[in-house]
Amino acid sequence: MAVPNWLSDAVLYQIYPQSFADSNGDGIGDLRGITEHLDYLAWLGVTAVWLNPCFVSPMRDAGYDVADYLAIAPRYGDSHDLAELVEQARARGIRVLLDLVPGHTSDTHPWFVASAHDPADHRYIWADAGLDGRLPDGFVRSPGDRPGGYLPNFFDFQPALNFGYARQQADQPWRQNVTADGPQANRAALRTIMDHWLRLGVSGFRVDMAYSLVKDDPGRAETARLWREVRGWLDHAHPDAVLLSEWGDPALAVPSGFHADFFLHFGGPYDGRPLRTLWNNGISTERPEWATEPCYFDAEGRGNVGTFLAAYYDALAAIGDSGRIALPTANHDFARLNAGPRTPEQLPPAFAFLLTFPTLPAIYYGDEIGMRHILGLPDIEGSVMRSGYNRAGARTPMQWDSGPNAGFSAAPAGRLYLPVDPDPGRPTVAGQRADQDSLLNTVRELIALRRTHPELGPGGSLEVLSDGYPLVYLRGERFLVVVNPSDRARVLAHDRPELASPKPVRNAGVTLDEAAITAGPFSYGIFQL
Ligand code: NOJ
Ligand code: CA
Repeated sequence: MAVPNWLSDAVLYQIYPQSFADSNGDGIGDLRGITEHLDYLAWLGVTAVWLNPCFVSPMRDAGYDVADYLAIAPRYGDSHDLAELVEQARARGIRVLLDLVPGHTSDTHPWFVASAHDPADHRYIWADAGLDGRLPDGFVRSPGDRPGGYLPNFFDFQPALNFGYARQQADQPWRQNVTADGPQANRAALRTIMDHWLRLGVSGFRVDMAYSLVKDDPGRAETARLWREVRGWLDHAHPDAVLLSEWGDPALAVPSGFHADFFLHFGGPYDGRPLRTLWNNGISTERPEWATEPCYFDAEGRGNVGTFLAAYYDALAAIGDSGRIALPTANHDFARLNAGPRTPEQLPPAFAFLLTFPTLPAIYYGDEIGMRHILGLPDIEGSVMRSGYNRAGARTPMQWDSGPNAGFSAAPAGRLYLPVDPDPGRPTVAGQRADQDSLLNTVRELIALRRTHPELGPGGSLEVLSDGYPLVYLRGERFLVVVNPSDRARVLAHDRPELASPKPVRNAGVTLDEAAITAGPFSYGIFQL
């Protein structure tokens, strides 16, 4: 399996549809709202968008609780609106990816409602109560007249679809083989769902909890086999379709058939540390147990980028050129790039790093203007996780302009999905487009640079000259990149004559001479040798 060319050098943009643009004034973002802003995305230079789930759902987990995989949630529009979005995006060189939630449904999905009344149904994982009336660990009591209980996959209202267990056990009859009828019916259903949306014109899927399908699966071997089977089918039915996984372990996900896997804030062989020690300890105000180490993008410069680099090299050694490691600025589950303790001055060096590193960059909507992570919001659509962490802070409405509700919606402010950042100085797209030195124009120029010079993308070589402050690396033996996210000037001595006077391509605070690279506070520079 090869990575399709368009994905190889893609710049991905994630849209949380609830909060991007509301076209009909009901306070909730929708598909037409996205279509109306495609010119903006084309201007920015992104080449693919991933939409969080937009299917029929009771929205108890913001749409990750699907009740009908083949229908668009009415609040977002209908399948014609999606077709229009896909077509208009394609006309601007932008592909659209949907979110596939294969591991669980809503407990209101007709499959589950039927299953809760039919003891012969095995689309979900059901266990009987013991003689003491207790269910096995992890199971939740049946809501129907079927006795016993079901296994949830995330929240209790998200029953796990049954893809079988890697290991059977005589006294635990719910551990079906992956070849049993229920698991095989679910595999067939997955193909039907993918086929439906691919026929409409989408380019592929981000796959939710891709690692979670086969239970008790040491090394995820059976889960990998399942995805390879899916990939085999796609290679015939829809060879251009891409699959990106929420897995957090590219070394497992890519050989399982995914074209790219996201580094995440959790899971994987390093339990999310590579990303958290890179830039997401901002989450620490709500998850203090995660603030065990400072992050590299820390103003005081106490971080160590080595944790990230080691994970990157490790994953790269495992996957080579057969897939990509996706690096998100943030996502709908974790703190935005502009989250305390990070300061806004660190955002330009952060984007310089993101857009010159050989990973697949994914920009979370609003991060390109430095939207703040907002604390203290209500629990909306399951934003508060079991741990108590509230994801709503990363989900507030996109800030378009200085009009009411920052141009997000014509609804009364009290009817918005979530409140707009109340800061009167909040950044907006319109304000930053007009300012040549804004973060937005910086991000746009960095994207353009990456797209004109493939050496800056995943295809170019990487040689790290310094992994401290500043971070200094060469790309494609031609571009020198210097990044200093700390609040003090940092000096790197060198004895390489070619670094003395390279041509600046973009320079924000870096000076070079024959003996040293001096990076001012919050600086970055890209030079051509
Ligand atoms: C991961 C998604 O990103 C998250 O938002 C969701 O709550 C869980 N999976 C469950 O689907
Ligand atoms: Ca709307």
